[in-house]
Amino acid sequence: MPEGSGVESALWDDWHVVAEIAELTRLGRIATQLLGFSLVVELDNRSVIPSVDLESGGVAPAKVKYGYVWVCLGTPNRDIVDFPECADRDRWIVNAGSFGVAVSGLRAVENFLDMSHLAFVHAGYLGEEPHTEVPKYKVATLPDGGIVATDCKFYQPLASPVATEGFDVDYVYRIVRPYTIMLHKANPIDPSRSDMIALFVQPVSEERCVVHMLLAYLKDELTEAAVRQFAQMIFNQDKPILENQLPKRLPLNPRAEVPIRADAASAAYRRWLHEGDIRYGAIPHDLGV
Ligand SMILES: [Fe+2]
Repeated sequence: MPEGSGVESALWDDWHVVAEIAELTRLGRIATQLLGFSLVVELDNRSVIPSVDLESGGVAPAKVKYGYVWVCLGTPNRDIVDFPECADRDRWIVNAGSFGVAVSGLRAVENFLDMSHLAFVHAGYLGEEPHTEVPKYKVATLPDGGIVATDCKFYQPLASPVATEGFDVDYVYRIVRPYTIMLHKANPIDPSRSDMIALFVQPVSEERCVVHMLLAYLKDELTEAAVRQFAQMIFNQDKPILENQLPKRLPLNPRAEVPIRADAASAAYRRWLHEGDIRYGAIPHDLGV
């Protein structure tokens, strides 16, 4: 843990999204918070590289990638997450929005991973009754650290803006950082290829976050606006559910919450956070349930 910051190095010395570049270009200056620290992002007239001034007077490194501004408050110990799909020319690469949510970002990641909510929270789109049961799937650890859930299948009546009928959708989830999750879901027109959704969750504080969404959807008959609208409509269904979760931080003790939220992927995510000693936004074992 870096001295004085109170935040573990795995988060402090990594890159986090703090703004959309389109929004920054429009406003010229954005004030926000990351890991409890206030910062201001400003565009330099001579360059699109923003400078970041910390309230404390320090300056943090910043980069622009995937349409977002990334900041590292410490010393970067790894590169920004790689999403190779963003280089495909037959995809729309869409910044679908940045949503402020009054809950730990770890809760937002776990909710995205949770297939059991789809038939209820996103009824008519990403699930519907009576297709509520989540079939068994596989969970493993990634070679570079993280969790992967494969062989996930779920019946969806309207899985994407180009879907015209319901079908069993194949999902692969990857949690590649504590606050970053990506989902590959089979494309409704060409099931041999996947559409990709990534959530870059900005930990504003331990109990507040901004969820930045990135989508890489095959263009098919889609428009970029349709991709954005669909993603925003779905996330607006999640937001009130997330904000009602208590406690607002994610308990890492497996006995802390009722089994409905403790499915295999969720349990693996919590265990991985515990083993990596990720405490920011969590309730660690040693702080009780
Ligand atoms: Fe959801």
